[in-house]
Amino acid sequence: MKSIVTGGAGFLGSHLCDYLLEKGHEVICVDNLITGTTKNIEHLNSDRFTYIRHDVTKPIYFGDKIDYIFHLASPASPIDYLELPIQTLKVGALGTYNLLGLAKEQGARFLLASTSEVYGDPLVNPQPETYWGNVNPIGPRGVYDEAKRYAEAITMAYHRYHGIDTRIVRIFNTYGPRMRVNDGRVVPNFIMQALSGEDITVYGDGSQTRSFCYVSDLIEGIYRLMMSDFTDPVNIGNPAEMSVLEFAKVIIEITGSKSKIVYENLPVDDPKVRRPDISKAKELLGWEPKVELREGLSKTIEYFNDFGLLQQQ
Ligand SMILES: NC(=O)c1ccc[n+]([C@@H]2O[C@H](COP(=O)([O-])OP(=O)(O)OC[C@H]3O[C@@H](n4cnc5c(N)ncnc54)[C@H](O)[C@@H]3O)[C@@H](O)[C@H]2O)c1
Repeated sequence: MKSIVTGGAGFLGSHLCDYLLEKGHEVICVDNLITGTTKNIEHLNSDRFTYIRHDVTKPIYFGDKIDYIFHLASPASPIDYLELPIQTLKVGALGTYNLLGLAKEQGARFLLASTSEVYGDPLVNPQPETYWGNVNPIGPRGVYDEAKRYAEAITMAYHRYHGIDTRIVRIFNTYGPRMRVNDGRVVPNFIMQALSGEDITVYGDGSQTRSFCYVSDLIEGIYRLMMSDFTDPVNIGNPAEMSVLEFAKVIIEITGSKSKIVYENLPVDDPKVRRPDISKAKELLGWEPKVELREGLSKTIEYFNDFGLLQQQ
């Protein structure tokens, strides 16, 4: 089995490369390192692993037969996509188009890493896959949300009109080792602030909710979906919802930090609630998250303790 992982040098992509190699796949990681780093894949010295530096908004061809394409390439954290708005739109549009073209040429199965952000600032909670979302297309976050919505639309079009075997995973907030310490997402932000004794910055009053999935659970869900025969989008995430303020308190407790909580303005169009309805994943994939928040956080904190602070210097 030969698999391509675009965005394979990023946080999730590198864990997926690890997982596929363990499953016996030959893995080709394609990444332009715009937000990723080869540090995430330098431990992969298997002769079944290849890394190609390439921007997937430009076409790519392979002589050998490819069986599976996991398309994860895209800036993913708000700091990244707000700094890289055009690249984010291009990778969602042209990148997805190019990889679907490759899937068509190769007869490969294609999986799109979509996001809970397609639901925008949702008016229903939890969010089932049938919910169409509440996205501001012209707000600053629209570059990411709409890129992914377009990517879903073109994936379904290739499925319907060209008969390509496709999968769409809607990923909810995921955390774990190899997140960048300064990528601006709430988990690394709070952990780094707590570890360095700085104030913990909560946006708004902290009543907005999130649900956090540990990376190993997510990767298992992605793999099961790819190997299933289900074409419609499937939510993969942890339904254990908590407020951002509660989450800050958990981080302070686990790290034993003396940090204080301070409040700043909410970013524009920040979702007020976020919780996956995972009934479909349970029923179709027999999947549900296994790693408890405190266990996952301890592993992540250990990683940041070992590597994070050094990396930042
Ligand atoms: N981590 C999450 O909580 C989360 C939630 C929802 C969706 N996702 C999706 O999962 C995927 C991976 O996210 P992540 O958290 O690992 O982010 P990440 O930034 O760590 O990884 C993204 C990778 O894609 C690469 N990339 C970006 N544009 C590229 C291009 N044009 N050509 C080649 N490579 C390119 C980057 O260099 C990076 O290595 C993304 O598609 C993201 O939208 C992630």
